[in-house]
Amino acid sequence: MTSYDQDYQRSITDPNHFWKEKAQILDWIKPFTVIKNTSFHKEDFRIKWFEDGELNACYNCVDRHANKTPNKTAFIFEANELGNARSISFKDLLKEVCKFSNVLKSKGVQKGDVVTIYMPMIPEAAYAMLACSRIGAIHNVVFGGFSASALASRVDDCDSNMIITADASVRGPKTISLKETVDVALEESKKNTVKTVITVKHIGSKCHMKEGRDFWYYDLAKFMETTCPIEPMKSEDPLFILYTSGSTGKPKGVLHTTGGYLTYVAFTHKTIFDVKENDTYWCTADVGWITGHSYGVYGPLANGTTSVMYEGIPTYPDASRIWKIIDTHKVSLFYTAPTAIRSLISQGDEYTQTTTRTSLRILGSVGEPLNPEAWQWYHDVIGNGKCPIVDTWWQTETGGMMLSPQPHGMNLKPGSVDKPFYGVKPELVDNKGTIIIGKGSGNLIIKDSWPGQMRGIYKDQDRFFKTYFSRFPGSYSSEDGAKRDEEGYYWITGRVDDIINVSGHRIGTAEVEAAINNHFDIAESAVVGVPHLIKGESLCAFVILKAGSLKSNSIKGEVMQIITRDIGSFAKPDTFIVVPSLPKTRSGKIMRRILRKIATGDHDNIGDISTLSNPRIVVKIIELMDHKG
Ligand code: WTA
Repeated sequence: MTSYDQDYQRSITDPNHFWKEKAQILDWIKPFTVIKNTSFHKEDFRIKWFEDGELNACYNCVDRHANKTPNKTAFIFEANELGNARSISFKDLLKEVCKFSNVLKSKGVQKGDVVTIYMPMIPEAAYAMLACSRIGAIHNVVFGGFSASALASRVDDCDSNMIITADASVRGPKTISLKETVDVALEESKKNTVKTVITVKHIGSKCHMKEGRDFWYYDLAKFMETTCPIEPMKSEDPLFILYTSGSTGKPKGVLHTTGGYLTYVAFTHKTIFDVKENDTYWCTADVGWITGHSYGVYGPLANGTTSVMYEGIPTYPDASRIWKIIDTHKVSLFYTAPTAIRSLISQGDEYTQTTTRTSLRILGSVGEPLNPEAWQWYHDVIGNGKCPIVDTWWQTETGGMMLSPQPHGMNLKPGSVDKPFYGVKPELVDNKGTIIIGKGSGNLIIKDSWPGQMRGIYKDQDRFFKTYFSRFPGSYSSEDGAKRDEEGYYWITGRVDDIINVSGHRIGTAEVEAAINNHFDIAESAVVGVPHLIKGESLCAFVILKAGSLKSNSIKGEVMQIITRDIGSFAKPDTFIVVPSLPKTRSGKIMRRILRKIATGDHDNIGDISTLSNPRIVVKIIELMDHKG
């Protein structure tokens, strides 16, 4: 047995002892005596970890390092333009976070309030998150690529009373006005719960400031003390909500709590990246996504790690930017998404040849399957053939990494996410819920709780149980499909529900269809995901026009504008096609499986269409697609 096998067995057979020991990675204000108190069964459903313990997440991420290693760098901020980097030490981080906390308090923010953060990738985004956790407020970070409508609906859903934003962000050659979007969102907001907007002046753009509501952050901060007491939080007190797409209905406010989440992200980060004192770590994910929360802010800071934060895009000013940042700051641990890797492969080798990347020690991947060709390039070219790759499978809901190799002493198989992390009990089941033993493929479920697990959907506990625990009673259903080989290695095959993963962004087909259907001339639509060489998947939209509407050439452009308005431009379909009707079952359900086959050109394997109410439509749509192509 390897040491991984031994530790894994221990974590599964005796979770209480295992997690009691591992939770010492944090400093607790009041030590816990109860460890795991969980059940996935309807009768006694509960998920609680370390419930009688008390701690503060910000203290664990900032103060304790500021006390021990005040001059160690917490963040290296690399701006959009080359040569504009600056370092923030743990001591400085503590001061900045305290000032931010005092600003929030001066505007009336209290423990339990929801503060929305709509920020670019700048240090103030992390300060704002940590300030919330310092004073016990719940942050709700909304990705800066979301539109005003998407922001408004998220703010309304959680009754947030404050928004923290920046004037604008610069990404490559583009300037993105964030404050302007906030203004529009607040006009659209139905509940008007937001009383205060705090804006960080980042690039100096002019903004409209509404009297009594809008304040410039640094105008307030300059009067603030650089110390601020921490709020002791119960282990199960909320830390944050983060909206994510589901297969039906509106986005869900995924709720994470304090003690279990922070233990889990700190411990997974330390173990999977084998973090050492002198490492420089870079997670490229935006703070607007879960990876940015768990492995851009909370995990690395809890471990006192030096992290790079980069505002710009991988291809600005050219496709060597990422590798240059790695060389300049001697990055040793690098965590990114397959879509970024694939898009950089496609730029050709000249951009890697001007850099050495010799500082790298471990490479990580997350968000979508890392195909073996991309794995090989990442390994051979980027890592100079000497860095293990940790391909980590997890979800917004899981809080942290669930299936992943560990960098030492485990076999690495290109394309595989390897084996479960400590304390994680995966199984594969068929659609009836029968457990598959040994080699096979099926639905990936998790049989028991782990500390980083989400605790609920904000204000909708019934939906929480129904979404994740009712399909396979007694288990958490991941809604991902997976294969397992004879040696017990897992391979993720992708979502089994109607979520599409475009460049690592989770997009619900229902949300895109709802946006498309907002066009006056559209009667109905169906969106499916098709494989894409770089993005992993792309969206293909089939639409039916209302009877009598004149099919205009402008409809595609108009629909794209609506999607950009309602969701954000990252959710625009690559393919858009007007069809006379959609393949449906007799009970009226759209057969997406068939549309997916048509969209991928897999015409010979469409399967049985006799159950359709309108089988002839299949040939018609194929003709339309061919004509288009
Ligand atoms: C997919 C991102 C294959 C999966 C952390 C999951 C992956 C969804 C991997 C969650 C991986 C994530 N290999 N697929 N290593 N990591 N996924 O919530 O389909 O944005 O369900 O969390 O991304 O996306 P989310």
